[in-house]
Amino acid sequence: MEGASHGLEFCLAKEADFEQVMSISEDIYGGIDYLPAKYHAWLQEPDRRVILAKKKGQVIALVSANVVDDGCTAVVEGLRVAPMERGKGIAGIIQQYCFDLIRAQFPEVKVRRYTRSGYLGPETLAKFRLICKQEILPLHCELEEIRPKLDAAISQLKACGTEWEDPILLRASDVQRVFLNPNVVGGVLPGKTIVLDWAPYRPLQSNLEILLKKNLIWLADGQEEPRVLSLGATPYRIPMGADCNRLSIDIFGKHFPSARNQFLAQLQRGIGTLQGSLYCLLYLDPCLWQQMYSFCQISFGLHQERDFEGQNVLETEM
Ligand SMILES: CC(C)(COP(=O)(O)OP(=O)(O)OC[C@H]1O[C@@H](n2cnc3c(N)ncnc32)[C@H](O)[C@@H]1OP(=O)(O)O)[C@@H](O)C(=O)NCCC(=O)NCCS
Repeated sequence: MEGASHGLEFCLAKEADFEQVMSISEDIYGGIDYLPAKYHAWLQEPDRRVILAKKKGQVIALVSANVVDDGCTAVVEGLRVAPMERGKGIAGIIQQYCFDLIRAQFPEVKVRRYTRSGYLGPETLAKFRLICKQEILPLHCELEEIRPKLDAAISQLKACGTEWEDPILLRASDVQRVFLNPNVVGGVLPGKTIVLDWAPYRPLQSNLEILLKKNLIWLADGQEEPRVLSLGATPYRIPMGADCNRLSIDIFGKHFPSARNQFLAQLQRGIGTLQGSLYCLLYLDPCLWQQMYSFCQISFGLHQERDFEGQNVLETEM
């Protein structure tokens, strides 16, 4: 067994492993790691397996796979290897263990999906199908500074008359109808996929039921044939600072004024009464990035601090 030659043991993650998992995660994603906020909830998800690799009893790697899409897809998330153990093939080994377990426990799974940031070289593209690509616009600010700027930006758009239309808040019954509409699936969703904060879901009734339990804000620019839809997640604390909150806003569609209005509405609802600082990650169609960036420069004084090179959803056979 390959793990044995590396002195590795594999097990399912438990609550008690949290501190060790955090200790291998300290440098990850420049302080905006989602795992500290999601770890405990992940352990409760019935169709997710969170796997640890341990060496002499110490956690040195983690990966998780969540089975979605009516049981057909395993979404791989959270992969990390302790800094001292990188470059030895451990990421490949722990993933292999995880896939064997998923194949044994979920025989219906046909494909696995990943979401990766950055440039995709020919080697990666030879191994995976690219399902969709969204661009990422990060906005890092103090909440007390952004609130008046946000109110001012919305007031200015409203004063223009034609620029602003209140985004529509979708209820649970609207969500099913709108997100399963074939025109929306084919024309609005990137690669026919709903991406929520890096996790891809096919537009299926069962996935919408999962997503509807996540306390999201669902906005649209129309109930019947929307051009733009958006999902706002509940903000969560990240390791970047004592009072730093991460807010993810996923926008689908290519119509800039609607995307901008939904971004502002999502931001307003998302920050609510939060205090401290905000790290907002806005995911949007690549064709909207430049316009949205310019808008954020003018409205919020945004200067790009991190060079995220897009969010790519990849797929390959299980
Ligand atoms: C990325 C990371 C997990 C690689 O760990 P590693 O053990 O040094 O990787 P190795 O070079 O030994 O193993 C390579 C294998 O890891 C996997 N891998 C590497 N980067 C990956 C990534 N970003 N996403 C998924 N799998 C990845 C691949 O399966 C690769 O196998 P291949 O050579 O057949 O393509 C590690 O550098 C790390 O923990 N980085 C910080 C966290 C992070 O960026 N995670 C990526 C999640 S998107």
